[in-house]
Amino acid sequence: MTQYLDDFMIWVPTQIFFGKTALDHLAEGIKRFGGSRVILVYGGGSIKKTGLYDTVVKILDENGIFHCEVSGVQPNPLASKIDEGLRIARENRVDFVLAVGGGSVIDSAKGIAGAYYFDGGVMDLMEHQNGRPLETDKVLPTGTILTLPATGSEMATGNTFVNDYVEKHTKAGFHGPYIRPRVSFLNPEFTYSLSRKQTVAGVSDIMSHIFESYFSNEKGSYLHARTAEGMLRTLIKYTPIALEEPDNYEARANIMYTGSWGNNGYIVKGNYVSWSVHLLENPLNERYNITHGEGLAILTPHWMRWAKRPENLYRYVELGVNVFGIDAALPEEEIADKTIEAVENFYANVLGMPRRLRDLGIDQACFEDCATRFENPTTVTYQSMAFVPMTVEDAVSIYKAAY
Ligand code: NZQ
Ligand code: ZN
Repeated sequence: MTQYLDDFMIWVPTQIFFGKTALDHLAEGIKRFGGSRVILVYGGGSIKKTGLYDTVVKILDENGIFHCEVSGVQPNPLASKIDEGLRIARENRVDFVLAVGGGSVIDSAKGIAGAYYFDGGVMDLMEHQNGRPLETDKVLPTGTILTLPATGSEMATGNTFVNDYVEKHTKAGFHGPYIRPRVSFLNPEFTYSLSRKQTVAGVSDIMSHIFESYFSNEKGSYLHARTAEGMLRTLIKYTPIALEEPDNYEARANIMYTGSWGNNGYIVKGNYVSWSVHLLENPLNERYNITHGEGLAILTPHWMRWAKRPENLYRYVELGVNVFGIDAALPEEEIADKTIEAVENFYANVLGMPRRLRDLGIDQACFEDCATRFENPTTVTYQSMAFVPMTVEDAVSIYKAAY
């Protein structure tokens, strides 16, 4: 543990067009990055219901931009769907990938972009990379039109998808500087149609990305911590407003922008971030296809309770006092406990999210198997730098507490 920021490199070249006029820049944004033949990537049809699909196609047509498409990307997207998109993209010799949707759609678009020039499918690329980042710039440029603030994938370097070519599905993904979207169009109005369940799951994921950075042993990252607190306060202020009034622009805009900056590296770089709660959630997600944000919401307070130690109370105290307004004059241990209660209360009572893993239909028989993730050498390396490193036994105990 150091008392100062570690050396780091950050490069976030995603051009953002934010606001009601974002799509006025769609053609210009695509063309700037060499796009003249586009593959549109989208999900199960929400963009057709809202009319966004027609708007996008009209803009492409009016600007002479060729387009083909792959649709039906499902939540927790499949490698086989990415390969379907790859075939269509290659047949049509596209030069740009445009995702219109949430994280699953964007991550699939990144899969197509990353594997396009590779001789094989996306899982062949994964095998070739063998855990190494994709450093090559021989990828297609990606643009995104975000409709669900959650993952931050619209500004982030990585993607996540499910390897459905094996009997026991596993989550896969790769990351690299050049698959970070080149341009993203963020119009908060496109999120008005989100259901309550999708809105809160998205907010929960954003919060989790912030917590993963915030619960760090790097005490010198003062700016990171205060920024993270500002982001959390933004979500706490605006989520109830968005739930009450789904078309409240100010609320949707604040949530959307927080999501993008919560996972673009800004509060991660220079911190020790080991993605502890995501590492706990992913194996459940592989087995049960649960909603990512719901799994995180259930696990987070239990992980916080487990990780609390006399030497790291300061972080709980800062969170409680600066974000949840807990009285700073109380004893530290009491503030820490109240902080965990406040987080739990926010998820369960303000957002109305499920409280227990059993509520998601998860069988506790899988816990030992899920926890084997913590034997994996990459995970062990990540965990060695964690706020509190987790073993297989620790993971099982957290799953059981959350059951
Ligand atoms: O498929 P459609 O019809 O579009 O419906 C989607 C989908 O059913 C719907 N939706 C999206 N925008 C909507 C809308 N419905 C109405 N109105 C709108 N405006 O929402 C449903 C869920 O969409 P999905 O894209 O799956 O959600 P999310 O953005 O939460 O993405 C989750 C995926 O991202 C991965 C997760 O593991 C999961 O696979 N993650 C990606 C990360 C990254 N790339 O950096 C980091 C995250 O930690 C996460 O792991
Ligand atoms: Zn996440």
